[in-house]
Amino acid sequence: MRIAVVGSGYVGLVAGACFADLGHDVILVDNDKEKLAALKDGQVPIHEKFLPELLNRHRGQRLSFSDDLEQAVRACSAIFIAVGTPSTEQGEADLSYVESVARQITGGVEEYKVIVEKSTVPVYTSEWIRKIILRNGASPESFDVASNPEFLREGTAVTDFLFPDRIVVGCDNDRCAAVLREIYEPLTSGTYYKRADAIPQPDRASIPAPIIVTSTKSAELIKHASNAFLAMKISFINAVASMCESVGASVNQVCHGIGTDSRIGPRFLNPGIGYGGSCFPKDVMAFRAVARECGYDFRLLDEVMRINEDQRHRFLRKVRSALWTLRGKHLGVLGLAFKGGTDDIRESPAILIVQSLLQEGCKITAYDPAAMERTREVMNSGIKFVNSAYEAATAADALLILTEWEEFANLDLNRLNTELKYPIVIDGRNLYDPEVMAASGFTYYSVGRAASHPEGVPALKNGTHKA
Ligand code: UDX
Ligand code: UDX
Repeated sequence: MRIAVVGSGYVGLVAGACFADLGHDVILVDNDKEKLAALKDGQVPIHEKFLPELLNRHRGQRLSFSDDLEQAVRACSAIFIAVGTPSTEQGEADLSYVESVARQITGGVEEYKVIVEKSTVPVYTSEWIRKIILRNGASPESFDVASNPEFLREGTAVTDFLFPDRIVVGCDNDRCAAVLREIYEPLTSGTYYKRADAIPQPDRASIPAPIIVTSTKSAELIKHASNAFLAMKISFINAVASMCESVGASVNQVCHGIGTDSRIGPRFLNPGIGYGGSCFPKDVMAFRAVARECGYDFRLLDEVMRINEDQRHRFLRKVRSALWTLRGKHLGVLGLAFKGGTDDIRESPAILIVQSLLQEGCKITAYDPAAMERTREVMNSGIKFVNSAYEAATAADALLILTEWEEFANLDLNRLNTELKYPIVIDGRNLYDPEVMAASGFTYYSVGRAASHPEGVPALKNGTHKA
């Protein structure tokens, strides 16, 4: 099948490269000429596991790049829209890029085309896309609009695409559904997984991939509801973590206890400094706004957002209670990305915390395995970037762990202790066992667990240790 993917960002680039790996001919369309030139030149603009391999495998063969949307539409049977859908000031999804792409698509609609929403959009967007294309002169039988939401987590997006829990396809007729079924056939029949050069299978893969065909509106709702539910799960466990701190219980034990109930499940129950990224914050807000527009007052989502924000403030209070005053304090920071495995800093809670600490007069030395370049673009004063976790710790009054990178969970604790001026670690991602940290000589604060202290350092009632 010939497929156009419009928008070569985190989602479009991964989807395009994966479609090519399934055997389709893909044109990746973008209006950013610099990005296209870099992609043609063999550069990979984002940090995403297996993406460089797939781009190398298919570039110039099954995968081409273009800024001519109309021509790409003419050449392809399916057109996936994967341009950004940022938030407006009112928290709604800004669909102006989607609308502009829909308008431009019309010029290329001659034979039958399936236009597929891949970006996260509110319910009713497919109807609007249809209206716009009709308004601009396409005939009603020359195209259908479908919804095929992505459930890709940054950092594992390629694997999530090729080994999905399920593929959701929202179509309002069989002709359109047949096109989408054909596109995903290598995954739903399982032939892809038998190939020697298939991307390695992760744990818990559902093979062959199940496909769920729904109405277009249901598919649009599935996407927003999934992200809102996952965000709610994180806020829920963060609220429980705060209770654990109040009563001296361990959130790890509580998570294990509730996560083993198969109706709840253990995933997305990691407490921390709150969710961030380009999806959860924006999608929870947009879902709240779309619910209001549809006449439902979804106040539960307000609370999900409130808890999420509060989680950052709680962490900052923890830093203050560990260090007393902040002005002039030198803090080592591990992690700037919104989560491990990515260079993305959009809505990163780590960045928001660093900004607050800078405002309070702290000096920050930071390290992130992938996100330092992007951070430099938005923050260039008051922060020193270094090339390892140990360098970030050197002579610092305390070390903060803000992103759940795997390499931060396996540090040499003796070396870390020697590097720090005071052996204090404030961990927003619960990467270490409090007892191990105490035994290694650290005063250690984490989320939803009692602070731990090296032997001989008595704890104060509020959790801080005596100077
Ligand atoms: C995606 C989805 O589209 C969004 O709905 C989802 O919630 C998060 O992920 P993402 O891939 O992260 O967005 O966006 P971004 O990295 O900003 O990429 C969008 C691309 O579209 C950019 O390369 C931009 O140049 C391109 N674009 C944008 C167009 O080609 N045409 C436009 O009119 C607008
Ligand atoms: C998310 C969805 O998971 C994906 O299905 C969707 O299509 C796009 O949005 P992504 O934003 O890439 O993916 O990352 P995700 O792994 O979901 O993490 C989002 C945020 O939640 C991160 O800041 C992460 O640190 C945080 N998180 C995640 C927690 O705090 N606790 C958890 O248990 C899981």
